[in-house]
Amino acid sequence: MSGRTRWGIVGTGGISRATVGDLHLAEDLDLVAVASRHEQTAAAFAAAHEVPRWYGDVDALLAADDVDVVYLCTPIGTHADLARRALLAGKHVLVEKALASTADEARSLAALAAEQGRFLMEAMWMRFNPAVRRVLADVADGRIGEVRSVRASFGFPPPPGTAPWQPGGGGALLDMGVYPLTLAHLLFGVPTAVEATGEVRADGVDLTASVFLRYGDDRFAALLTSLRSVVGAGADIGGTDGAITLDAPFFATGSLSVLSASSRRPDRVELPLEGNGYVPMFRAVAEAVADGLLEHADRPLRDTIAVLDTIDLVRARLLAAAQV
Ligand SMILES: NC(=O)c1ccc[n+]([C@@H]2O[C@H](COP(=O)([O-])OP(=O)(O)OC[C@H]3O[C@@H](n4cnc5c(N)ncnc54)[C@H](OP(=O)(O)O)[C@@H]3O)[C@@H](O)[C@H]2O)c1
Repeated sequence: MSGRTRWGIVGTGGISRATVGDLHLAEDLDLVAVASRHEQTAAAFAAAHEVPRWYGDVDALLAADDVDVVYLCTPIGTHADLARRALLAGKHVLVEKALASTADEARSLAALAAEQGRFLMEAMWMRFNPAVRRVLADVADGRIGEVRSVRASFGFPPPPGTAPWQPGGGGALLDMGVYPLTLAHLLFGVPTAVEATGEVRADGVDLTASVFLRYGDDRFAALLTSLRSVVGAGADIGGTDGAITLDAPFFATGSLSVLSASSRRPDRVELPLEGNGYVPMFRAVAEAVADGLLEHADRPLRDTIAVLDTIDLVRARLLAAAQV
């Protein structure tokens, strides 16, 4: 395939509404269809957001010949099944975070995508955010010396009226903790030790997790996520010669500051977002698919699966402590 790719959105909820404008903004892709489980909802979304075609049935969109890439914007507990159906229908698939509910589900999807010769990626827009890219480049250049610590948090209670989390459908860790955990993995890789404490609902849904990751030396990451209270959304990366602070929300920020050990005031860096901040990811995926790639080099499936492995371990620690 070369040139423009044709995209279809599955789901018409919060993230579909947040990203549809950015899909229109991204070059090299055409948003051609949306699918909902309900005809009226699909039609209303298509009319409100200038999407040419709509389907009141997800499988009808998956069967459409003129859709190349399916963007799954449905609840986490549906991702594994819908992504599998989309891949089997021959589509390239971009899946909202978290890619799946467990690392094993994600491994199965990765194997299927390879077998089908189709692109698959978790929509980890943080990896394509210009400020986060700047941090990774600065760290690689040694701007803050040797990085020793990551501190990051993200969490807030669900707004009244939103659907409660279901067992197997993701809790705080998959819904919000995935960002702090991904940031730690981007900077340090796979931890050698995982400690966690938190709060788990009686049915096993994780509500709060305070996570401490070690890396076989003195480096560590201290991470916090919660569905029970607002725990902030900042991130600090500490090094031997300085520190970088990503302003909240760190995974979608337009600004950061760099404090060096020798200066009293941090250097401010502003990197404004395009649209709602999803454009760089959509552009990167569209280019990768058009180039015939099955994964994006900046967000390969093995990295996504490694984060899910850590989340599985953290969840197991919480469940063991709660004796659920
Ligand atoms: N990247 C970000 O900034 C960001 C922010 C928020 C959420 N998310 C992620 O986006 C995904 C969706 O979250 P959301 O907040 O948009 O949720 P949401 O508002 O509940 O919307 C999800 C939509 O999925 C569809 N859906 C629900 N259950 C389904 C099922 N069983 N099978 C097929 N479709 C189903 C529904 O659309 P229809 O009624 O039209 O079928 C629903 O409106 C999650 O993975 C979440 O983690 C990402």
